[in-house]
Amino acid sequence: MKEPINHDAKSGPVECLGQSFPSEDARRAHFMQLLAEKLKDTDFRSQQGFPDGTDDAILAMSDPPYYTACPNPWLADFVRRYGTPYDPAAKYEREPLAIDVSVGKTDALYRAHSYHTKVPHLAIVPSILHYTQPGDVVLDGFAGSGMTGVAAQWCGCAPATYRFELELAWKRAGRAAPKWGARRVVLNDLSPAATFIAANYNLPFDVDAFVKAGKRLLTEVEHEIGWMYETLHTDGKTKGRIDFTVWSEVLNCASCAGEIVFTTAALDENTQRVDDILTCPHCGVQAKKEQMDLQFESFLDHASGTLEKRPKRVPALIKYRVEKTVYEKIPDTHDLQQLAKIAALPMPAALPTDRFPDCQMLRVGRMKTTRSTAIHFMYLPRAAHALSRLWEGARAHPDAKIRAILLFMVEQAIWGFSTLNRYSPSHFSQVNRALSGVYYVASQSSEGSPSYNLGGKLDRLVKAFHGYRTLTGNAIVNTGTAARLPLPDASVDYVFTDPPFGENIYYADLNFLVESWHGVKTDPAPEAIVDRIRQKGVPEYQHLMQACFAEYHRVLKPGRWMTVVFSNSRAAVWNAIQVALQQTGFVVAEVTALDKQQGSFQQVTSPNVVKQDLVISVYKPNGGLEQRLARSGATPESAWDFVQSHLEQLSVTKLKDDALVFIVERDPRRIFDRMIAWFVRHDAAVPLSSEEFLNGLRSRFPERDGMAFLPEQAVIYDKKRAQVSKAPQMDMFVSDERSAIDWLADFLKQRPSTYQELHPEFITQMGAGWKKHEAKPELTAMLENNFLKFDGNGEVPSQIHSYLSTNHKDLRGLAKSAPNLIAKALDRWYVPDPTKAIDLEKKRDKALLKEFAVYQGSTGRKLKEFRLEVLRAGFRAAWTAKDYKTIISVAQKIPDEALQEDEKLLLWYDQALTRSEASA
Ligand SMILES: C[S@@+](CC[C@H](N)C(=O)[O-])C[C@H]1O[C@@H](n2cnc3c(N)ncnc32)[C@H](O)[C@@H]1O
Repeated sequence: MKEPINHDAKSGPVECLGQSFPSEDARRAHFMQLLAEKLKDTDFRSQQGFPDGTDDAILAMSDPPYYTACPNPWLADFVRRYGTPYDPAAKYEREPLAIDVSVGKTDALYRAHSYHTKVPHLAIVPSILHYTQPGDVVLDGFAGSGMTGVAAQWCGCAPATYRFELELAWKRAGRAAPKWGARRVVLNDLSPAATFIAANYNLPFDVDAFVKAGKRLLTEVEHEIGWMYETLHTDGKTKGRIDFTVWSEVLNCASCAGEIVFTTAALDENTQRVDDILTCPHCGVQAKKEQMDLQFESFLDHASGTLEKRPKRVPALIKYRVEKTVYEKIPDTHDLQQLAKIAALPMPAALPTDRFPDCQMLRVGRMKTTRSTAIHFMYLPRAAHALSRLWEGARAHPDAKIRAILLFMVEQAIWGFSTLNRYSPSHFSQVNRALSGVYYVASQSSEGSPSYNLGGKLDRLVKAFHGYRTLTGNAIVNTGTAARLPLPDASVDYVFTDPPFGENIYYADLNFLVESWHGVKTDPAPEAIVDRIRQKGVPEYQHLMQACFAEYHRVLKPGRWMTVVFSNSRAAVWNAIQVALQQTGFVVAEVTALDKQQGSFQQVTSPNVVKQDLVISVYKPNGGLEQRLARSGATPESAWDFVQSHLEQLSVTKLKDDALVFIVERDPRRIFDRMIAWFVRHDAAVPLSSEEFLNGLRSRFPERDGMAFLPEQAVIYDKKRAQVSKAPQMDMFVSDERSAIDWLADFLKQRPSTYQELHPEFITQMGAGWKKHEAKPELTAMLENNFLKFDGNGEVPSQIHSYLSTNHKDLRGLAKSAPNLIAKALDRWYVPDPTKAIDLEKKRDKALLKEFAVYQGSTGRKLKEFRLEVLRAGFRAAWTAKDYKTIISVAQKIPDEALQEDEKLLLWYDQALTRSEASA
C-alpha cells in the first residue's frame, strides 16, 4: 500500500518508508541515528565512491532517508515501497524521442543554483512525460544539480499555460496528450557538492520561512561586519556602503622593473575596456601583460606554519553607494587603513585550509602562476571573513531544512567571493563572474559585499521556488558512483542522464572548492572522465562509463528506455560512449542533434560528424529476447529475432518541414551494425555475413525508401508516404572505404554508370572528412571488388535495363537483348543481385584476410596507413575463431586514435581484451 505523502515541509505527523513519526524532526532524528551507526561500519565506508569526510560532516549535510552525502542505505527501500515491480506482461511501447537540451536556460528555477554543464529541467520534462506515467520511478545516476528530479516533479506542478502549449505541440506532431502528474525520482552523483544541490532542489522546504531566515542572516552579517564595507564619500564625511572593490595584480615593468598596477595601466575609463598593451607609468615602455613579471609577496600561512608566496594584489577601485546612488572612487588612505586592519585579524575558523589535490588545472595556467594551491589562498582577508560569517550563520540555524537551504544560498557565493571572480567592467553586475567549468584566477578580481553578492540572489530564489512544488517521498538522493547503485534489479522505469564527456570538465577537482566548505569531498577514483594526471585516457574513461551503463542496465526494467545527453566533439569519446552502451546490452535506437539554425532535430548520419549536444535514445531489450538467445545460441534465426524486436522500437515516420525524413536506424546497413554489436556483446559469433544479412532482411521485412520495417509499420509508413510528394533522402558522408562503397552502392542502385560517368561524381565525395590513417582506395579496385560490370555478353541485367528504360525514351519497352539497349548498357557498373553479391563478398573477404595476414606479420614500427576494411574483416574472423590474441596484437600495431575513432574495431578489440583477461 502506498502511504499518503506530505504536501509541504511544515510540521505534523509524517509517514516515511512505512513508519509513522510525530513530525519531520522526529523522522529526521530517527534516520540520523541510523545513519550515524551505519557510518561506523568500515565496510560501508570503504566502498568505492564513498566521499572523504568525517561522520559529523557527512551527517551535517544529510537529511536521511531522503538525502545522504554518502551511499544511501534506504535507496532500495524507497524504490520497493514507491515503485512498481517489473511485470513482463504489462504492455509498454514507446518510440525514441529527440529533445532540445538548450530549452529553458533562462528559467528562474534552472538558474536558482549554478552547476557545471546543467541541463535545464524544461528540456527534460517532455522526455519524462513521453516515457513514463505519474508515479513511475525515474533515475539519473550523473544527476549533478538534480535537474532530472526537478523535471520529474515539475510534471506534477506545471502551470496551465505550459501544459496547454505542450499538449498543442504534441497534437500537431500527431501524438496523444501526456499524463500529467509527478514522477518519483532517484538521483545520484559522485560529488557531495552536486548531491547537496540536488537534494535542496528536490526536497520540500518552507519557502516563506526561508525568506525570513535569509533576510535575517544577511542583516546579522551586515550588523557584525558591515564596518568592513564602509568608505568615505567624496565630501569626506558621509559614509558610503561598498558594493564591490576591484583588486589588481601588480606587475614589474620588463624594461625599468618599476611597479605597474594592472588595473590602473590596462583599464580605459572611457571605454571600460582592458587594453592588451600596457604602458609603464615610469619609463613609458609598452608591452603585453604576459611579457612582464607578476610581483609576489611573502606571507606566513598560519594554517601550515610555512612561509608562502602569493601575487601582490592592491585595491584599485571601489564602487559604493550613498542612499541609492552609486559612485566610484580610487581607494583612499582611510580605505587602505581599514583593509590593513582587516588583514591583521586572525583567520576565521570556518575558512577551509585544504590544499588542492594534484590536478590538471593546478599544473597549468593561472592557478599555477598565481600559486593558488590551497582553498584559503583563494580568498582575500575581507572576503574570507564575510563568507565564513555567512557560512557559520547558515550552519547555526536551528531548523535542519532551513539550514540546508540557507547553505544552498550561501554556497553560491563561494566562487563569487574568491579570487576567481573576474572584474568585468563591461558588465553591470559583478556577481558570479568566475569563468565556468575551470579554475581561472583573474588579474583583476572584484570582491563584493555580502548584500551585493547575495541580496538579489535571495529574491530570485524565492521567486524561483514559489512556482514549484516538491513533495516528500517523491525524491531520494544518493552520493556515490553510478557504477554501484544500491537499487534492486529491474526496478526503474526510465533513465535520463547527462554523464561527463571526456576531458572537458574536471568535476571532482572543480567541486573541491565548495566541498572543502562542507568538509566532505568527492572520491575521484571512480570519476568517469579523461584525466592525464589521474592516468585516465579514453580507454579508461570508456571502462568507467561502461561500468556505470552496466549498472543502469541492471536496474532498468526490460523494454524500457534511457536517454543519454552527449556533448563533446571528439570522435574517440563518441565511440567510447557508443561501445560502452552496446557492450552493456543497450541497443541504440536513435541519435539526434538539434539543428540550431532551423530549430529542428536531425539524426546523426555519420559517426565521424559528431556535433555538440547529441541525444542518444537507447533501450534495454525485453527479457524474452535475451532468454531466447541464451536458449538457441547464435543462429541466423536469433539474428532475425533481434531484428524483429529492434524494428519494433524504432520510429516509424519522422517529419521535418512537412516532409518525411530518412530514419537512419532503419537503414539495413545500420541494422546490421546493431546486430553485430548485439552478438559481440553476448560473446557470440555473428551468425550472418553482411550480404547474407542484407539479403535475408529484404526477404523477411518490407523495405520502403531504403528503410526496413515490420509489416504493420510499413502500412503506417505507406499512409504517411502517400501524403507527401518526395521520398526521404539519406545524407551520406564518405569518410573511409566502407562508406565509399556504401555511397557507390546507393549511387549505382539509382544510376548504373560507366567509370567515366561515375568518376567525377565520386571524386566530389572524397573530401575533407577522410579518416587520417585510412588508405585511399582506387575507384577501379572498389568497383571490381564489390560491383559488376556489363561486358556486352548476354542479356542486359535487369538493374541496368530498368534504369535505362525509365530514363531514356528511345530505350523504353525494348527486350533485354535489343542491340541498342546492349550498346547503351555496355561498360556500366551495377549492384549485383543477392546471390552474386554473396559470392562477391566471399571473394572480397578472402582478399581482405590475405591482406590482414600481411598486417599481422609486419614487424617494427606502427602501421601508419592501412585499410579499416582489412582490419574489420580480420578482427571479425579472429573473433569468430576466439583468437583474441590476434585482435589485441594487431590493434597494438595501429595508432590509438585510429582504434578509438572506429566504433567497429573498438567493439571487437574491447571485447577481445575482456575475454582474454577473463581467461587469463
Ligand atoms: C554533466 S554533469 C551532470 C550535470 C547535470 N545534468 C545537471 O543538470 O546539473 C556530470 C556529473 O557526473 C558526475 N560523475 C562523474 N563520474 C561519476 C560516477 N562515476 N558516478 C556518478 N557520478 C559521476 C560528476 O560529478 C558530474 O556532476
